[in-house]
Amino acid sequence: MKFSPLLRRRYSNFFLTSPNSLMASLTTETLNPFPCPQPPGEESLDDLLCSSGGAVLQQQKHEKEKEESEMQREGFLGSPSGYLGGEVRIERAWATWNKLGRPKLIVAPMVDNSELPFRMLCRKYGAQAAYTPMLHSRIFTENDKYRSLEFTTCQEDRPLFVQFCANDPDILLEAAQRVEHCCDYVDINLGCPQRIARRGNYGAFLMDNLPLVRSLVQKLALNLHIPVSCKIRIFPNLQDTINYARMLEEAGCSLLAVHGRTRDQKDQKKIRADWSAIRAVKNALRIPVLANGNIRHMDDVWSCLAETSTDGVLSADALLENPALFAGFRTAQWAEKGKENSSDGNLDQADLLVEYLKFCERFPVPWRMVRAHVHKMLGEWFRLQPHVREDLNAQSRLTFEFLYDMVDQLRQLGAKIPLYLKDD
Ligand SMILES: Cc1cc2nc3c(=O)[nH]c(=O)nc-3n(C[C@H](O)[C@H](O)[C@H](O)COP(=O)(O)O)c2cc1C
Repeated sequence: MKFSPLLRRRYSNFFLTSPNSLMASLTTETLNPFPCPQPPGEESLDDLLCSSGGAVLQQQKHEKEKEESEMQREGFLGSPSGYLGGEVRIERAWATWNKLGRPKLIVAPMVDNSELPFRMLCRKYGAQAAYTPMLHSRIFTENDKYRSLEFTTCQEDRPLFVQFCANDPDILLEAAQRVEHCCDYVDINLGCPQRIARRGNYGAFLMDNLPLVRSLVQKLALNLHIPVSCKIRIFPNLQDTINYARMLEEAGCSLLAVHGRTRDQKDQKKIRADWSAIRAVKNALRIPVLANGNIRHMDDVWSCLAETSTDGVLSADALLENPALFAGFRTAQWAEKGKENSSDGNLDQADLLVEYLKFCERFPVPWRMVRAHVHKMLGEWFRLQPHVREDLNAQSRLTFEFLYDMVDQLRQLGAKIPLYLKDD
C-alpha cells in the first residue's frame, strides 16, 4: 500500500504500530457526542452542552473528517469484506474478538446514559468494552447537530460498539460509514420495545419483518470495513429465537448480544431474564455471543457466564446506579445477603459522581444526560436528604459548580452510603 507524504508525516507513529493504534490516533480527541432519537430543534436548556469545549471539538472534528476521508481514499481502512463464505466469516468474527482481547464485562447501550463520560467512568472501573446509546440512523445522516451532540468518542474509548436503529438498509449503511473509522463494531438495535420504536418501525418491532432485518445485516456486512453486530430480544418460543439468531449469523452478523426477555417483558426489575434461552442461542451459533439481563453484581457475572457459556455479559440498569460494578463494588442491597463477608470498599456513589463530572468537563455532553446520571447515582442519598433533590430539581440550568457544591452539602449533612467489596 502506498501512503502520501502528508499521511506519513501525520501518522508517522502508526507506521511503527498496529492497525488498532491507527484507529486510536485518529480519534485522539473527542469527535462529537451522540444520544437518541430525539428530533432536533426542540431542545430545552438541558440539551445544551455541559461545557464550552463544543466549538473547539467541532472544529477538530471537521479537520479530522477531512483527514480521514483522505485516508480512506488512500486505502487505509482496507476494503469491505464483501460476501465471505461461512467458514471464513466465522474465523473473521473470532479473529476480531480475539484482537479486542475477548472483553467479558461490557457496558450495554443506553439512550441518554451510555454516553462518552459514563463509558469512560465504567471503563476506569473494570468495563472492558462499551456500546454507545442507540442512534437514529436517518437523523444521524441528515442532521449535523444531532451527530455532533449525540455521539462523541476519544482514543481511550475502545473497544466500542456504535449502535443504530434503522429500517432502511441504505440509510443504515450511510450512517454506519460515518463512524466505522472510530469504532470496532457497528451494532443494529433489534431489541428496543418502546412505543417510539413501534411508531418508528425499528428495534424489537422488526421481529415482525425478518426479511428486512436480514437485508439490514447483509447490507452492512457486505459494505463495511468493520464487523456488524446485533442486539436482540428473545421470542416467546425458543425455536423461533434460535432460527432468528441463525438467520442473523447467516446474514453476516459477527457478534450477537441476546437480551433474555421478550418484546412484551418490559419490566426489567420484575421479570427475570431467561438465561437458558441465551444458552440455547450460544449453543446454536458459531460467532461470539453476549448475554444480557440481570447482571447486578460480579456474582451475577460469573453465574451468567457459567450458565450460558457466553463470551461476555452486558449490564445496563445496575451500572447506572453503580458504575464500579465491574470492579467488584456492590451497593448495600447486594452486599446485604452476605453482610458478614462484605466490607466498606472506601468508595461511594458521590465519589463516582465527582469522577463522572470530571469526565464531563473533558468530554462535554448535553446537561440532560448529566442530570439523569446524578439522579441514578445519588438516588439513595436523595432518599435520605430529599430537600437536596428538590433543590436540584428546581435548577432549570445546571452548572458544575452547583453539582460539586451539592456533593459537598450531602457530605456535610453526614450522608454516607458505602459501596461494598466482598471479602475473599
Ligand atoms: C436507561 C436505559 C436506556 C436503554 N437504551 C437502550 C438502547 O439505546 N439500546 C438498546 O439496545 N438497549 C437499551 N436499553 C436496554 C439495555 O441495553 C438492556 O438490554 C436492558 O436494560 C437489560 O439489561 P439490564 O437487566 O442489565 O438492565 C436501555 C436500558 C436502560 C435502562
